[in-house]
Amino acid sequence: MTKTKTILLFITLVLIISCKQEQLIVTSLSSPKKSNTIEFYLSQDGTPQYLVKHKNQIVIDSSSMGFDFKNQPSLKNGLQIIDTRSNSVDETWEMQWGEQRKVRNHYNELIIELEEIAAPNRKFNIHFKAYDDGIGFRYEFLPQQGVDSLIVMDENTEFQLTGDHTTWWIPGDWDTYEHLYNTTKVSEINALALKDHNNLAQTAIPENAVNTPVTMRTSDGIYLSFHEANLTDYAGMTLKIDNDTFKLTSELVGSDRLGYKVKRNLSKKMVKTPWRTIQIADKATELIDSKLIVNLNEPNKIGDVSWFEPKKYVGIWWEMHIDKSSWDYGMTLSEDGKWIDNGKAHGRHGATTKNAKRYIDFAAKNGIKGVLVEGWNTGWERWIGFEDREGVFDFITPYPDYDLKALAQYGKEKGVEIIMHHETSGAPRTYEKQLDTAFHMMSQLGIHSVKTGYVGKIIPKGEYHHGQWMVNHYRKVLETGAKYKVAINAHEPIKATGIRRTYPNAIAREGLRGQEFNAWAADGGNPPEHLPIVAFTRMLAGPIDFTPGVFDISLPTKENNQINTTLAQQLALYVVVYSPIQMACDLPENYENQPAFQFIKDVGVNWEQTIVLNGEIGDYVTIAREERNTGNWFVGSITDENKREITINFDFLEEGKTYHGILYKDADDAHYKNNPKAIDIEHIEIEKGMTKKINLVEGGGVAISIMLKQ
Ligand code: NOJ
Ligand code: CA
Repeated sequence: MTKTKTILLFITLVLIISCKQEQLIVTSLSSPKKSNTIEFYLSQDGTPQYLVKHKNQIVIDSSSMGFDFKNQPSLKNGLQIIDTRSNSVDETWEMQWGEQRKVRNHYNELIIELEEIAAPNRKFNIHFKAYDDGIGFRYEFLPQQGVDSLIVMDENTEFQLTGDHTTWWIPGDWDTYEHLYNTTKVSEINALALKDHNNLAQTAIPENAVNTPVTMRTSDGIYLSFHEANLTDYAGMTLKIDNDTFKLTSELVGSDRLGYKVKRNLSKKMVKTPWRTIQIADKATELIDSKLIVNLNEPNKIGDVSWFEPKKYVGIWWEMHIDKSSWDYGMTLSEDGKWIDNGKAHGRHGATTKNAKRYIDFAAKNGIKGVLVEGWNTGWERWIGFEDREGVFDFITPYPDYDLKALAQYGKEKGVEIIMHHETSGAPRTYEKQLDTAFHMMSQLGIHSVKTGYVGKIIPKGEYHHGQWMVNHYRKVLETGAKYKVAINAHEPIKATGIRRTYPNAIAREGLRGQEFNAWAADGGNPPEHLPIVAFTRMLAGPIDFTPGVFDISLPTKENNQINTTLAQQLALYVVVYSPIQMACDLPENYENQPAFQFIKDVGVNWEQTIVLNGEIGDYVTIAREERNTGNWFVGSITDENKREITINFDFLEEGKTYHGILYKDADDAHYKNNPKAIDIEHIEIEKGMTKKINLVEGGGVAISIMLKQ
């Protein structure tokens, strides 16, 4: 039901503050329950300024807004307000799949129309929305005589913090988000110190800036998370840090090739930037509850996506990361640019028909609906470490030992869908050339999802993964996917900005240090605090393809690596880390005869509702989710390197119903370092009103399935 009421002037208008004897007119906008207020004014020289209050306390102090353009003077001052418009919206929309079914979109908005007092009298609007869980604003540029395109050299949106907040951040890398989170004061953020690391095939950290979402806690215990929503036809935003004044300033990802950051056609239509967002909460857990990012996106444009079924999947994947098999087959590139099988196959190829059948059989036996197969297509012999990757990967042609058609059919007969894999190796032009044909082939085979990948520096040289040119590429893949009924799980992606509301075929993405780092990272993998930070940072952006579920935690084939969690925590991740596709990433043989595998078989992937029970950033988090259409609940709780006791209150259950609970807990002597697999499985009856204290060991967790008794 949509209820939009236009109130002509509900805003508290015209507060007068005095500043250096001059009177400034302040326009203010409050959220529906008045939790957050934005105040907007023009400074004496006509510079747009805003500040944000949370329950009467300033959380963003006076901050200015402006732009630098190519071939035009900067837009920063000399402005006057020519009109203001306001409105109030309270609507509820439904997620076709998601962490909850219904989402309330309740806000007040204000559009401020500005014009330069002097020639060239450019006009632009600032559109503010105030929600009870945060605020958002965007800029709108109006077509102007004689200006065909808007060429942005940089956007100068400031966020003036009120103190030296504790911050959970990754560097403002233009090519990757696959960094560990740092926990420091704003004054201590030093992204440039992280320029040299040997884990990544692509990285570019030009400034002391951070990527978003970046989350902070003030000394008064208010939580702030900065991000953006609806990143469309624009460059990704990083935030430049001033260590002395605690000011953040937008720094858009650039293009060395084009020399500007954003170019938009302004001849006919208004140009809108993405929303700049601040989630504001009194408790860390409320950041996860917030639906601000999806709410600031446009409604579904592609219609029904029921052809995509949220699912668990297994795949020919982990075996490559732990060096048991390889992506490539051992083909040779002939002089005329064709891949030929000249008898050099090394016999370690993972994606064989036989192996894929083994995974399909395993999936079918365990009620798992998807099988990802990586390394099925030609090109892998020239993957990492090659400069010239254009034209190398072929998204149509399987290796000689992989019968794609037969496997798609075999899977279908067993109720299992193949998940396609397209590694572009950072050569998106090669990919775009084949996109239609490749997606058409998938739709012919009844394959409705693809995992894409962009490892390596982008070709053409001078483009970055997070710049406007690539933002448009990732969008093109989504749009083409929608045309062919293909859902996209992008690795090395552009960050999630809530686009899944508009394109619900954007099912998941990586965009963080995933499980794979535990297999091969030179620094030993993700430390136990990684995911208790991710839940309050990266996860606020959208679904994560983290690929949990390693059972063989010590990784016998990897001398210097292991998983830095207990087995119970691996299970808890299916609930804590949200995604409509969840991999059971370990080898089938590692799940055979393991009682704990029952949890992965049982756990849901599509949720009616989600309740964040407790948590602190970087320490621990506990989440309960109700599965759609079954009434079953699942709980996951994870801790960092510290052991702790958590209390779970089952008040969220339905009154008068009884549930069969299975608790998968760390054994008393478990520890992520030397006894990670020790797990206790306990069956109990659970009812609303019960509470239970549970001990999590170092790097540990608990997973609980709560199945409604018939
Ligand atoms: C990096 C991805 O994150 C990983 O999941 C994938 O296996 C490799 N690229 C190969 O595409
Ligand atoms: Ca990756």
